[in-house]
Amino acid sequence: MPEPTDAAARHIPVLLAEVVEHLRPAPGRRVLDCTLGLGGHSEALLAGGATVHGVDRDAQARALATARLAPFGSRFSVRAGTFADAMEALVREGERFDGVLADLGVSSMQLDDDNRGFSIRSAAQADMRMGDGCPRSALELIDALGQDELADIIYQYGEERLSRRIAAALKRGRTEGRLHTGAELAEEIRRVVPGHHQRHPAGRTFQALRIAVNDELGQLDRLLAALPALLAPGGRAVVISFHSLEDRAVKTDFRDRREAGTYADAARRVITAGAAELSANPRSTPAKLRWAERAGAHP
Ligand SMILES: C[S@@+](CC[C@H](N)C(=O)[O-])C[C@H]1O[C@@H](n2cnc3c(N)ncnc32)[C@H](O)[C@@H]1O
Repeated sequence: MPEPTDAAARHIPVLLAEVVEHLRPAPGRRVLDCTLGLGGHSEALLAGGATVHGVDRDAQARALATARLAPFGSRFSVRAGTFADAMEALVREGERFDGVLADLGVSSMQLDDDNRGFSIRSAAQADMRMGDGCPRSALELIDALGQDELADIIYQYGEERLSRRIAAALKRGRTEGRLHTGAELAEEIRRVVPGHHQRHPAGRTFQALRIAVNDELGQLDRLLAALPALLAPGGRAVVISFHSLEDRAVKTDFRDRREAGTYADAARRVITAGAAELSANPRSTPAKLRWAERAGAHP
């Protein structure tokens, strides 16, 4: 396991200034960080004086963030499991927050950890589970799905035009006992996708498999449904997404609930990284931030 300081140094939280601006941390304000990761956003919110309850489905992330945020003492607490389960439990417990943050997707630590098989270069089994609440690895998913179902996932979540051809190759390779590691899967995909590519042709399929393995869109739907009950009047939600399907779900939900009066206000325009952040942290390129404010008086 990497040292907390190494991991924290490698991970740069995206749109940090914008998260702080919209969540307005201050003493007495309670924030729920649904995607604690290495605690980069939480650290800034705690430094602003807020109390933070962090959730992550990844035990390694929880351990590293807990060590990093220890100096904030009892103002920081952590919970295991998926954010969907955690939020629904918090609603049942009658908890309310002044801010809720979700910085969706995988962390750079998870992507870069060769043993977890998220990467097209990985020499380990293509597992791709972030942690709690993921019943099947990517290999188990490929084996369990029919070829058409697999193609649909690759098409829908990866926006991959050649999904049928790729699904056929993956099913065949698994049946023949050839495909195990991330690198082997990626090479098989390269073989069936013609032409020269600026980016590896397996990238979109890997994204699709990861989204399916971790039920990322199902988790987001449950998050959006639980948010209104968790936010105190005047409390704000900030969601950062990295995929057009996620952003569309957030945009539609925030707009519909603003029109229904649940949210007093919501971002009319998506917020993205500026030039300085893009050059310092290329991983911020696809990040899209949207916020919404619960109707009612400011807390
Ligand atoms: C992009 S990283 C968050 C980085 C964090 N904001 C920071 O500054 O260090 C996403 C984290 O959320 C976690 N995660 C993603 N989906 C989750 C879910 N449905 N439930 C709980 N944790 C989740 C991942 O395990 C990962 O650690």
